[in-house]
Amino acid sequence: MGVDMDLQQKARERCNWLPERELPPGPMYKALVDQLASDIASGKLLPGVRLPPQRLLADALGVTVGTITRAYREAERRGLVEARVGSGTRVKGKTEALPHFHHLTRAGQDSIDLSLSIPIPTPLRQQQLAASLQRVSSRPSAVDEALVYQPEQGCPTQRDQLCQWLESQGLQMDPEELILTEGGQHADFLALQALVKPGEAVASAALTYPGMIAAARQLGLKHLPVGTDSEGIRPDMLERLCQQQRIRLLYLMPEYNNPTGQRMSEARRSAIVEVARRHDLLLLEDGVQFVTAEYRGTPLYKLAPERALYIFSVSKLLAGGLRFGALRAPANLMAHLRVALRAQCWSSPGLMGAVTCQWLADGGADALLNWQWEEIRARQALVQEILAPYELSAHPCGFHAWLRLPEGLRAVDFVHLADGRGVTLIASEPFCVGSQPAPQAVRICVTPPASREALAEGLQRIRILLDEAPAIPAPLL
Ligand SMILES: Cc1ncc(COP(=O)(O)O)c(C=O)c1O
Repeated sequence: MGVDMDLQQKARERCNWLPERELPPGPMYKALVDQLASDIASGKLLPGVRLPPQRLLADALGVTVGTITRAYREAERRGLVEARVGSGTRVKGKTEALPHFHHLTRAGQDSIDLSLSIPIPTPLRQQQLAASLQRVSSRPSAVDEALVYQPEQGCPTQRDQLCQWLESQGLQMDPEELILTEGGQHADFLALQALVKPGEAVASAALTYPGMIAAARQLGLKHLPVGTDSEGIRPDMLERLCQQQRIRLLYLMPEYNNPTGQRMSEARRSAIVEVARRHDLLLLEDGVQFVTAEYRGTPLYKLAPERALYIFSVSKLLAGGLRFGALRAPANLMAHLRVALRAQCWSSPGLMGAVTCQWLADGGADALLNWQWEEIRARQALVQEILAPYELSAHPCGFHAWLRLPEGLRAVDFVHLADGRGVTLIASEPFCVGSQPAPQAVRICVTPPASREALAEGLQRIRILLDEAPAIPAPLL
């Protein structure tokens, strides 16, 4: 069979990696793996880099796909690369664990950013922050209180103020049960570091918040996925997993799973608590994707106060830059949390806490939040209207919607196509636990655009791409 030189040249131009030197005689697949190993060792191929698709590399080298498949398999066996369904074969290596937050890169200036889960931009926020700063700085006793070293659980006045505000939102907590943190991510990390030993296992939905995946990895924990249905984590699957191995902690978002939007019924919450009691699991409920009281079910710490922790943060409500949050925990775990927090940062910053709690106590925050909830409802309605024919999962006051792509579309390609049309989205990949295959879905955040009109424009562009789907040429493999 003659080699089509034109096809080979085109394929070579599209390959991001090719063996530079003439390969030595002997089995081709082995020579390829040796070349790969040498390029990885020399730093020419960095960890995380995706290798060319098999068919493309086969065309570029004028060999059969079978040869490349064999080479990639051998490279995987030797621990050089890692293959993942839906995202190809990538160079393995330590830094490969780092890019879990890679999606937090800002969208280009002209792009409509639908990738970040953040509060809706409004000048009201700046005005309220200025007022809050002013009030704290004009009270010498408040400044004094904020400027001293704080106890590990955080300033007692701030814990009282926070509890009062949480109570107004239907979440009753005792200030003694709270440890103040530098936001939700810190609370996640703190809970894992203080309560789970390296090598022990934690579990969560197979698609979950990437910060949790990153924290578990960083701490050397085993992170196991649990199967879900339309209500989130399935108790029978959790039961089976617990029978197979010891799980220390289950991480979950019963109100509104980030990213899939599943919400747990009351019956489901009780069933999960039952399994947790049977197998002595800690429950870490992440409430950072905060919803209004009218949509909230019973928090797990109410159902199982002896084993459930709850994470709160103002990042989605006031501003992510405040780095202010809290972790509610049963009294018998508080000493472990205090010791871990002291080792990390002594305490959460008193000044940030003072400004944030003043903001919450003023009533200004409530006005801002009421505006934001109304705006989010209107924006979620726009998503439902513009993307009506497609498979969406969302919450009326959620910060994002989850879009399952129609047959034939791949999430990574879709994100790329959307980028070409000036819309920034996130594919499913960063949300996958372990080596779970990534579903062909994308997350659409409704809050970053400054106006509903900008959001509608972004959604229209997505709609056009979806409608055009059958015309999108399949990528050359
Ligand atoms: C579920 C969840 N938990 C925690 C966080 C991190 O919260 P923070 O920004 O307060 O650290 C986020 C942020 O997006 C989140 O979605």
